[in-house]
Amino acid sequence: MHFLTTLLLTATAVQAHYTFPRLVVNGKTAEDKDWSATRKTKNAESKSGIENPSAADIRCYQSSNAANVVTVPAGATIHYISTQQVNHPGPTQYYLAKVPSSASVTSWDGSGAVWFKISTTMPTVDQSTKQMTWPAQNEYVTANATIPKSTPDGDYLLRVEHIALHMASQANKAQFYLSCTQVKISGGGSGTPGPLVSLPGAYKTNDPGILVDLNKIAQAPSTYQPPGPAVWKG
Ligand SMILES: *[C@@H]1O[C@H](CO)[C@@H](O)[C@H](O)[C@H]1NC(C)=O
Repeated sequence: MHFLTTLLLTATAVQAHYTFPRLVVNGKTAEDKDWSATRKTKNAESKSGIENPSAADIRCYQSSNAANVVTVPAGATIHYISTQQVNHPGPTQYYLAKVPSSASVTSWDGSGAVWFKISTTMPTVDQSTKQMTWPAQNEYVTANATIPKSTPDGDYLLRVEHIALHMASQANKAQFYLSCTQVKISGGGSGTPGPLVSLPGAYKTNDPGILVDLNKIAQAPSTYQPPGPAVWKG
């Protein structure tokens, strides 16, 4: 019986790929079905990640725009539902990009130096077991983040990303899982978000948070350097 259980667990782990098709705002599902305001990703069926951090797909990985827009109050807590258990070690990051006034959130492509990071996560190590874990690891949801209260009102693309680092000691073997949602931020403020980066552009294959030996991070978890710009806290 134990042997069988182990086999089943192993089989599950091998197929551990996932997508993030639904946004949750303040604990309530903001989309009544998958890919409603979240742009359907190219891996919607295969669930496979992106391994090249310079690929065009690193921006939104999208196969199509979405029909709807979700209203998100500034200050809200957000996360995503994952189609599978997010069982790989690695950080969860969130970005926003403001839609230019000349464009529409349902068709804008998110090009240019327009993306700012609003959240990232760091690992912790249990001192008794020496086991390293990351926020929301092994959950069927992504880690929570807060939309900064001073984010200016308007239409944005919201991008969630989980970087699976289990093979990341080899170049181009970290796996990026991500999606972008069309949102309207309301009740915000007059902050000046930044630094602003391009996607692709913000990540390089050899970034210390992408080409990384997790055994070393487990010795000193606070030394992990999440890739991309500093977090804008509002
Ligand atoms: C994440 O936020 C939701 C509300 O949106 C809350 O119910 C949940 O407890 C939070 N999870 C963690 C790990 O803080």
